[in-house]
Amino acid sequence: MSKYKTLLVEKKEKWAEIIINRPNVLNAINDDVVADLHAALDELKGDSGIMGLIISGAGDKAFVAGADIEALLKRGRDDALKGINQKLFQKVEDFPWPVIAAIKGYALGGGCELTLACDIRVGGKTTQMGQPEARLGIIAAAGGTYRLPRIVGTGIAREMFFTGKIIDAEEAYRIGLLNCVVEDDKVIGKAREMMVKISKMAPEAIRLGKKALNKAASPSHDHGKIESEYQAILFESKDKKQRMTKFLEKKNKK
Ligand code: COA
Repeated sequence: MSKYKTLLVEKKEKWAEIIINRPNVLNAINDDVVADLHAALDELKGDSGIMGLIISGAGDKAFVAGADIEALLKRGRDDALKGINQKLFQKVEDFPWPVIAAIKGYALGGGCELTLACDIRVGGKTTQMGQPEARLGIIAAAGGTYRLPRIVGTGIAREMFFTGKIIDAEEAYRIGLLNCVVEDDKVIGKAREMMVKISKMAPEAIRLGKKALNKAASPSHDHGKIESEYQAILFESKDKKQRMTKFLEKKNKK
């Protein structure tokens, strides 16, 4: 039995694999996922036997369809100021070895932001990505506002944030959001193929190379704090409560 409530963690030759395992809610990130991911990342970052990490989602339908909307609805100003998912995704970005997101199906909202904190994104034909938070009355405050423009450029990032549009795999590849697109059943294999290549490199060159890349990309002032402060305002808004309640009502009507 896995020691994690919401994750499956496996060790391969030279890397580890984490599968977020809540397929019934499209692997949405709730408090248990946050706690489990912190624990797994803390444990794996000290593992001298690995040089990388692959993160994927259970089932065929989704990588992660976002933060759990039921949990989000209950969160208020003080929770936003804690930057719960923001701190978690920073830990993903700071993981000492390359992290690859192996993405089948939906990577939306916090799910898309999680992939942005990874070093490499491998997509499948069914991959759909987007930051639809504004539909729910909030913003992408888990690093999305600074990581997405860094990867796809500010014009495309703004369009994605402001229209909430969800893009398919081909478009994600075209704008540089995905490194490559393969058949769905080859996504994990492609990520592993990359890990095999990485594991043949000199470990210190990979570790220090990633550190240098992270430093070059890190914002000069605390954008995280700004995101959290704006999210704190939105978490108290009527719009947020109405829009999230509407999403959950649809679910209960089924
Ligand atoms: N939080 C909580 N539950 C979620 C969820 C989320 N982010 N995303 C999906 N789910 C749940 C659904 O409520 C549904 O639960 P149910 O079977 O108990 O009703 C289950 O996962 C399957 O999703 P469903 O909506 O029935 O699948 P679909 O194929 O019709 O639509 C999506 C898929 C991804 C388009 C749709 O689920 C969606 O819009 N999800 C929210 C995406 C989002 O806004 N994410 C950003 C959050 S910040």
